[in-house]
Amino acid sequence: MKKLIFVNLKMYLNTIEDIQNYIDNLKNEKDKIVIFPSNIYLYEFIKQNFQIGIQNISSYPKGAHTGCTSALSAKDLGVKYALIGHSELREYEKKDTINQKIKQALNNNLKVVLCIGENLEHYNQNKTKEIIKKQIEIALENIKEQIIISYEPVWAIGTGLTPKKEEIKDIIDYIKSLFNYKIKVLYGGSVSDKNINKLNQISNIDGFLIGSAGVNPNTLKKIIEVTQK
Ligand code: PGA
Repeated sequence: MKKLIFVNLKMYLNTIEDIQNYIDNLKNEKDKIVIFPSNIYLYEFIKQNFQIGIQNISSYPKGAHTGCTSALSAKDLGVKYALIGHSELREYEKKDTINQKIKQALNNNLKVVLCIGENLEHYNQNKTKEIIKKQIEIALENIKEQIIISYEPVWAIGTGLTPKKEEIKDIIDYIKSLFNYKIKVLYGGSVSDKNINKLNQISNIDGFLIGSAGVNPNTLKKIIEVTQK
């Protein structure tokens, strides 16, 4: 089954030349991927008809919030998805911020990709399920609309480490069991062209959220090839 391929470019590409090369190299793949570029380059991708997500949105609708981007402005530009709760931002957020961001996104018809995952200490203490259940409950309080979840163990992000295949399968089954609709669950955290064959065998994965391995178009193409059979 074909998988969803979401690419979080974080702050990896920082010149218009690099962005244009990236776009040129991936123009034949654009129907197979959703790119989350840094805000300043969103429109470059949208102009070229890529499917686009935003890496972060404000928890407020509008107003005096310096440096923030509203969900309305993202939607108005042509953004389709909003990444919310990524661990690189989560540590700076208050308890109810993620819930408010999700509401803003849904109010503006953006599809929400909610990142959840345990840190290494919780993993070692076997508390993964407890942690992610709590993260989901807090994030989705009073929210009934459908979202996408990305399971991203914090200790697997950018480290080259991944949980075992059986562990990922078990956690994804658990996440799916917490919802009363058929939720799509992605896996993220050190997905690369080296491990994609193995990860792609996990039967209940609906797709992947790829960080650093998605920055090089050739590496990304290898990942796409494996996951689109
Ligand atoms: P990584 O990042 O693939 O570089 O580990 C994944 C993510 O942060 O979404």
